[in-house]
Amino acid sequence: MSTPHQQMFFQHLFGIGQLSKEQIEHLVSMGESFIELSRRPIKKAPTLRGKTVINLFFENSTRTRTSFEIAGKRLSADVINISASTSATSKGETLLDTAETLAAMQPHVLVIRHSIAGTCEFLADFLPHTSIVNAGDGAHEHPTQILTDLLTLKTQASGYEGITMTIVGDIAHSRVARSHLLAAQKLGYKVRVVAPKTLLPSQVEQYGCEVFHNFDEAIPGSDVLYMLRVQTERLTDNCSFPSIREYHEAYGLNRKRLALAGDNCVVMHPGPMNRGVEISSDVADSARSRILDQVEHGVAVRMAVLTALCGTAPEPEKRTPRREKAEAAMQAQGKLL
Ligand code: CP
Repeated sequence: MSTPHQQMFFQHLFGIGQLSKEQIEHLVSMGESFIELSRRPIKKAPTLRGKTVINLFFENSTRTRTSFEIAGKRLSADVINISASTSATSKGETLLDTAETLAAMQPHVLVIRHSIAGTCEFLADFLPHTSIVNAGDGAHEHPTQILTDLLTLKTQASGYEGITMTIVGDIAHSRVARSHLLAAQKLGYKVRVVAPKTLLPSQVEQYGCEVFHNFDEAIPGSDVLYMLRVQTERLTDNCSFPSIREYHEAYGLNRKRLALAGDNCVVMHPGPMNRGVEISSDVADSARSRILDQVEHGVAVRMAVLTALCGTAPEPEKRTPRREKAEAAMQAQGKLL
């Protein structure tokens, strides 16, 4: 039977859905303890010396990729960045072959972003000796963004327990919204979702959230207005979207709308934001905005995640399940590899 301390750790981070309330709180608290490191003149600690982290990104990223890189380097890990355009997948290599190739170089952690939901779980079956972190998979999950947001809320007087977070915009295609809906059920904060019907997933109520189509009606009583970018890259032809002007009129956060909120209501956005679409520049740059706090806390939370995972990955071995399976099949046929 595992001890409470061991229960705080896990080999992979696929999503908020896999974590208990205690594990989420532990990672957020660990992240809080790392904030100070980034504010020191010398931003270095030896925690991950001798560990190797590979960032493997098949979608564009500014915040997540850079913060994983900074987090690893500030903790003295060796960090390597690979993007789709510079990897051999651009020459026809499969994702699995690329991942197995990188795993053969014995990294401790692979941080993966991919447009296909479930990519990390799929790869983990073939890479049992490498820890995998989901840095965003399609419209499925983005766990480290949620840990980042929770840390930002923890640094607020209100904390996150019992607050009302109003998530506005393209809920249907948002991995961030989905991960928050899962986290809220575990941690006891309330979520309101606001979107036109075309940008809401079917049966979203099953997550225990309140659903609004009128943004103005959802604002009073909100502690956080959490704005989302419209994920134009994930919109399909049959998903109608109004013009940018119409969208901003109905679902954009501007000063006039912010005035409907209570004095302590804050504004958050996971980024990248489209000024003038889901958020006006004056609100994004206002004293209510916590957007750059989220970015700062993203580094601290990723330090926590890397530290937790590097403490748990099994010792590397040379053979992968795929190779073992292939060898068994060959031997069964009386051949040698
Ligand atoms: N929030 C977020 O995932 O931003 P990036 O796409 O820049 O990583």
